[in-house]
Amino acid sequence: MLKEIMEQPEAVRRTIQPRLADGEIVFEELEDERDLMKGISRIYLVACGSAYHTGVTAKYVIEGLARIPVEVDLASEFRYRNPILDANDLVIIISQSGETIDTLAAMREAKRRGGRTLAIVNVVGSSIAREADDVLYTWAGPEIAVATTKAYTTQLVLMDLVGLYLADLLGTVEQSEYDTILSEMQLLPEKMRQFLSHTEDIQYYASRYFNHDSIFFIGRNLDYAMGLEGSLKLKE
Ligand code: F6R
Repeated sequence: MLKEIMEQPEAVRRTIQPRLADGEIVFEELEDERDLMKGISRIYLVACGSAYHTGVTAKYVIEGLARIPVEVDLASEFRYRNPILDANDLVIIISQSGETIDTLAAMREAKRRGGRTLAIVNVVGSSIAREADDVLYTWAGPEIAVATTKAYTTQLVLMDLVGLYLADLLGTVEQSEYDTILSEMQLLPEKMRQFLSHTEDIQYYASRYFNHDSIFFIGRNLDYAMGLEGSLKLKE
């Protein structure tokens, strides 16, 4: 797990870099879908565990930038809750492994009900990647540790790119804001590298808190989403 934590800057760079060309986001995988994407009236984000927390984060990002209503569902709930779906709904399925059975079943249910499915997956050729209408890969590389780290952070940046891409397509973001977010994102790998190099500071905080009986993560909006994942990670 520590090895995978340290691999995050490179994983995030590999996820962002191939999607940028001449200061713009390019999703070659979605080139034929541009008109379809423009007609989306609602987005469902469906996943389990940490990938669900990526969904909670992405709701704030997509609604904030692209002004499309977003619902976030645990896959195990979505598949059994009789969701209302039509062809203008986009169901984004998020999964590191691409094999989590509730997530796979939720995607099949979304397709059966006529929704369009887009998978955000790390493992190339996994079941979810193969069965989704479209796939965007997080290029985190193999993740062996059970508790996810680099797959989760690459999901976050990929969903940021998706939000910004949709906002650009729908004309809901100013060019200056688009440019600023993109250039900030390109600085992320280096900032992460610098952060992770402060081993002694991180060890200091760990030693201060490791033996507490309870720890509360408190935050709002994006920080709320981060709190959910921070709490899960600490429990794991
Ligand atoms: C948490 C963790 C799990 C997974 C969840 C979904 O660290 O690893 O909560 O996030 O089981 O797995 P995937 O993303 O493979 O569908």
